[in-house]
Amino acid sequence: MPTLIEPGRTSRNIDPCVLVIFGATGDLTARKLAPAIYNLGKDGSLPPNFALLGFARREKSHEQFRQEMHAAVQQFSRTKPIDEPFWNHFQNQIFYHQSEFDDDAGYEKLAQQLRELDNQFATRGNRIFYLSVQPKFFPIIVSKLKQHGLLSDPKSPSWSRVIIEKPFGRDAASAATLQAQLSKDLDESQTYRIDHYLGKETVQNVLVFRFANSIFESLWNYKHIDHVQITMAEDIGIGSRGNFFEEEGILRDIVQNHIMQLLTLVAMEPPVNLSADAIRDEKVKVLQSVRPLSNYVRGQYGAGFVNGTAVPGYRQEPNVSPTSPIETYFAARLFVDNWRWAGVPFYLRCGKRLPKRATEIAITFKDAPGVLFQQRDKHNPPNVLVLRIQPNEGIALRINCKTPGPSSPIQPVKMDFRYGSYFGQSPPEAYERLIWDCMLGDNTLFARNDEVAQSWQIFTPVLEKWAAEVPKAFPNYEAGTWGPEEAEKLITQDGRAWRLL
Ligand SMILES: NC(=O)c1ccc[n+]([C@@H]2O[C@H](COP(=O)([O-])OP(=O)(O)OC[C@H]3O[C@@H](n4cnc5c(N)ncnc54)[C@H](OP(=O)(O)O)[C@@H]3O)[C@@H](O)[C@H]2O)c1
Repeated sequence: MPTLIEPGRTSRNIDPCVLVIFGATGDLTARKLAPAIYNLGKDGSLPPNFALLGFARREKSHEQFRQEMHAAVQQFSRTKPIDEPFWNHFQNQIFYHQSEFDDDAGYEKLAQQLRELDNQFATRGNRIFYLSVQPKFFPIIVSKLKQHGLLSDPKSPSWSRVIIEKPFGRDAASAATLQAQLSKDLDESQTYRIDHYLGKETVQNVLVFRFANSIFESLWNYKHIDHVQITMAEDIGIGSRGNFFEEEGILRDIVQNHIMQLLTLVAMEPPVNLSADAIRDEKVKVLQSVRPLSNYVRGQYGAGFVNGTAVPGYRQEPNVSPTSPIETYFAARLFVDNWRWAGVPFYLRCGKRLPKRATEIAITFKDAPGVLFQQRDKHNPPNVLVLRIQPNEGIALRINCKTPGPSSPIQPVKMDFRYGSYFGQSPPEAYERLIWDCMLGDNTLFARNDEVAQSWQIFTPVLEKWAAEVPKAFPNYEAGTWGPEEAEKLITQDGRAWRLL
């Protein structure tokens, strides 16, 4: 079994396969999946024996579907312009299948079409089914695939893997129900739950940074770390996603999955090896150690100015109720009650329509003994290590230095590593890595069932409390500001401050 960071992983290790995308005419396929598959192919990372089959409801020919995929790649690929000679060859491996998700006759035809593709491309019955569909369709698709003999036994030489898009459930109970439905037909080893944050290079680098550098690990605990801040800020609003966001809110959309993934990677113990289960075992232990939340804040943006442009409030966005109680901001103080992190607060914050787009993990170390130099003033602040996830991907360490000359002896300076300037190229898109890993049979970067369940355990009481108390003060922060006043208090009451980004 290949592992997360294994030298020598190449497309030569990948079995031939057919990738079937359910929801192949949707937004996610156009914006993310089609460009990811194109770039994998162009980089030589797809197996030589490969076919792509789009599954959706509308009638169209293979040729029409190929043209739509071409247009999507042209618009959304990270590499431009499109490599036409490659595309002209590659498009012959792309096909379309029209059916409703619950139509037995459609699955019979799908089975027939897959047999033909196996013959044509020597794909040996290996299949990835990517469910890029609304979550209500996950159980029916999986059960129909099983019923029509399209999900192989996990032990059989031909493999079947199912990628499941987020969200996986809306709370602890609905996630458990969904899991119970899926596990009737699908083994955990065949289940690949997407959290696209895990496909980001900078997120994977948190593990490398921690466990491939000996200097930090000895400091990575309550003795040396004062607190940790995880920020996921967006300057954009809801845009055209009003319908979706009204059902979700930021806690479900971002905190329960992406932020908690970052938290587990920062807080986990070293795994016994780099296998998927060893890593995920340690992540689950972190989630099990999280103390029930008692200190948290929700917010919703009103009208304001972002980067000098006037923008509407959340309740004025399209498809949003004018009295919506949905949160667009969340902040919390969280404790991981284990030996390593006893008493160390983790401050989380994320929001829409904040002044800028930035995702980072900041680790603030404890003050040096204030015997020689007075600590915590602006000239001599504590050391901070910042892992920048996006944009300007990199790592920075703030240290205090003597300034040249006889006066003002100390000044904070920054040691800064930037991926872009060092490696000279932008990292691949998360979806490229995740599709590639699924082809390799490596589910390290996908959320395991117990991870998802445990994370819902942490946030379900919050969601229940909110559902019982309509927020009276919404909107409670202006677009273009760093969130509601209460979020300031949440951290200043501890004698600390949010980082200025
Ligand atoms: N879009 C994003 O940025 C994004 C980001 C993260 C996660 N996701 C997740 O990804 C999934 C897909 O999102 P999306 O935005 O791509 O959805 P979408 O644009 O609404 O696309 C839905 C797709 O499903 C097909 N479909 C719907 N009902 C069907 C039925 N009864 N039978 C057969 N096909 C049917 C549609 O086919 P027709 O076009 O032929 O009707 C279309 O291809 C969702 O789980 C979403 O939460 C999306």
